[in-house]
Amino acid sequence: MNLQRENWSSKLGFILAASGSAIGLGNIWKFPYVAGENGGAAFIIVYLICTAIIGLPVLFAEILIGRTTQLNPVGAFKNLVASQNSKLFWSSVGGMGIIAGFVILSFYSVVAGWSLGYIYESVSGVFFNAEIFNSDEHFSSLISNPIWTVLVHTVFMALTMIIVFLGVQNGIEKGSKILMPLLFFILILLVLRGITLEGANKGIEFILYPDWSKITVNSILEALGQAFFTLSLGMGAMLTYGSYMSEKDSIPTSGLQIVFLDTLIALIAGLAIFSAVFAANLNPNSGPGLIFQTLPIVFTKMPGGYYFSILFFILLTIAALTSAISLLEVVVAFFVDELSWKRNRAVVVFGLISIIIGIPSALSFNILSDYKILGLTWFDLAEFLSSNILLPLGGLMISVFVGWIWGKSKVFENIKKGSENIFLEKKWILEVWLIFLKFLSPILIFLVLFRSLNLF
Ligand code: TRP
Repeated sequence: MNLQRENWSSKLGFILAASGSAIGLGNIWKFPYVAGENGGAAFIIVYLICTAIIGLPVLFAEILIGRTTQLNPVGAFKNLVASQNSKLFWSSVGGMGIIAGFVILSFYSVVAGWSLGYIYESVSGVFFNAEIFNSDEHFSSLISNPIWTVLVHTVFMALTMIIVFLGVQNGIEKGSKILMPLLFFILILLVLRGITLEGANKGIEFILYPDWSKITVNSILEALGQAFFTLSLGMGAMLTYGSYMSEKDSIPTSGLQIVFLDTLIALIAGLAIFSAVFAANLNPNSGPGLIFQTLPIVFTKMPGGYYFSILFFILLTIAALTSAISLLEVVVAFFVDELSWKRNRAVVVFGLISIIIGIPSALSFNILSDYKILGLTWFDLAEFLSSNILLPLGGLMISVFVGWIWGKSKVFENIKKGSENIFLEKKWILEVWLIFLKFLSPILIFLVLFRSLNLF
């Protein structure tokens, strides 16, 4: 075993790194458009409920497994079960998480690359060239260029590799301590700009007044999936970050802080984006293109739009970067802990592999757009497979493990470490948490899985 395993240097370091993982494209790119398509405030309410009853309990469970074992997902499960057969079974659950990490990274870094490329586009001022600029055409022409999509994906992955290469304290923690405050600061500037635009009130109303007629069974499952994705649950990322946490720090308190920050950022991003979109009289439900197609037009219509466009894409890239490092860190931790690899070697090898398996995703918008598996492009398949199958399955297994397999007394004993004098004194809180993990989350996650596989 690795005796010199690193730890976070402080509790704040853990909170910032873990919220960095949670806050990403899911909050700023996906949440606003999914909310836009599903009735605004109504969707947000459903999403908040999902986060509270499923997201939070599973987040506690994941961090707990990591902190207790101080190991990567495979090692952690192996460590906590006794028989040889269960070791095999549960390590493969951890292994599935590691594979899921690769699959997510392969499409995540493609969209993150677009965001990085858009920093350049906004600096160049191309959005403001009114005679020739058409934002839809501009976006299509960029993503239909294979060199551009592969290049920006590769540069983004290289940035991710550099941070992970520098280590847990010097790379991930230090990076998060610089990038996260910067992200909060930029977002505050953007939301202040958004809500003070003329006509912004329609956007604010859209976020505040629920349109329940848009809520279908599908939107509920969508909200549940979003709660999982945005909290980085179901593949061992939070488990791995928890494994660098000390037993002196409280899991419930940190978990609540992470969920609070993640939700707050999604809501503020939604507010900033919708107030600006409505102020510019544009359509809020333009789907995944909301950020890359609608926003560039919005910027041209607002005072100071040039600077705000640059700030916005820097914000989106930072958010994606602190998430991508958590995805890469999971596989690196596995090779370092279990196979005694040097961190540097693991980062270079798996960073390069991630670049390679991301290439077909980057080409899904151009050369490979007609090449379909099960009717989906490589990019769509990677997204579907991870968000709709691997993550729910992972979350299900984590709930079952903590709810049914690990043993109540051990679970309670471990979660109490570091939080003795807080609300955990009240025993019913822990009991409720465990009941949620035992019944509620497996049942709801099952429904998501069934739905994804079109079984009902
Ligand atoms: N949570 C990130 C987002 O919202 C994405 C992410 C990072 C993630 N690590 C993860 C999602 C692990 C699932 C699992 O953008």
